[in-house]
Amino acid sequence: MIDKAAKILKQAEFVAVLTGAGISKDSGIPTFRGKDGLWRNFSPEELATPQAFQKNPKLVWEWYNWRRSIIYRAKPNAAHISLVKLEEIKKGNLWIITQNVDGLHIKAGNKNVIELHGNIWSERCIACGFKRYNECVYEYENLPPKCPECGNLLRPDVVWFGEPVRHLEESYQIVREADVLLYIGTSAVVYPAASLIELSIASGKYVIEINYEKTHLSDYVSVSLIGRAAEILPHLVQKL
Ligand code: OAD
Repeated sequence: MIDKAAKILKQAEFVAVLTGAGISKDSGIPTFRGKDGLWRNFSPEELATPQAFQKNPKLVWEWYNWRRSIIYRAKPNAAHISLVKLEEIKKGNLWIITQNVDGLHIKAGNKNVIELHGNIWSERCIACGFKRYNECVYEYENLPPKCPECGNLLRPDVVWFGEPVRHLEESYQIVREADVLLYIGTSAVVYPAASLIELSIASGKYVIEINYEKTHLSDYVSVSLIGRAAEILPHLVQKL
């Protein structure tokens, strides 16, 4: 199966990659669903919606600040690094569309990255629109942080449930133009990200899945590689 995936990638002129939380698992960042997933112990409605922030900004910031503390220590793993190599092999004819907010693809060195759900280090004012990139973990007593321009609340500049994802049209365009979609470490249940996979399958494109366990789309893809992304991707890229 890995040889088949390598052949598809070798022949492809333009590659689209969609990543999810599973690719960062080996960097020590928890996933959302499945065994040990964050949504087992936390409720998305209470932590990752505009309503939750309105109701309790401190609680929402505490959760994001806790995630920041994990991501702050995290480094790109072998899977991220393999995607940098793949971008080089493809001479830049590759785009990564990620649902992750950890910024690890950019840290690894990929140039063509779309962060559909934003970036955890970005924050913006709910009133005046002030925005900054602030790679820090706050002291508990400084939460929630305030806007330096107008004094109103800053919020994590990420996409919450019920909010539009970023760069969606561009992402569809990339997937439409690509010869293959490689998706890695995503349960493929959150929309519209999951629709990018469905679009590729429906238009008869090659689709390669790398995931720790089967997904509801595994039976429809060209190749399904089951296991850790940090193990499979280096093998795959080595074959190109
Ligand atoms: P999920 O947590 O839903 O899915 C992660 C997937 O990665 C699962 O299918 C795991 O089996 C797989 N996995 C775990 N470890 C892996 C490993 N080492 N190698 C490969 N695969 C592994 O994460 P996402 O699909 O990214 O959105 O979730 C999508 C969105 O739901 C997130 O962006 C977030 C979340 O709620 C928002 O908060 C808006």
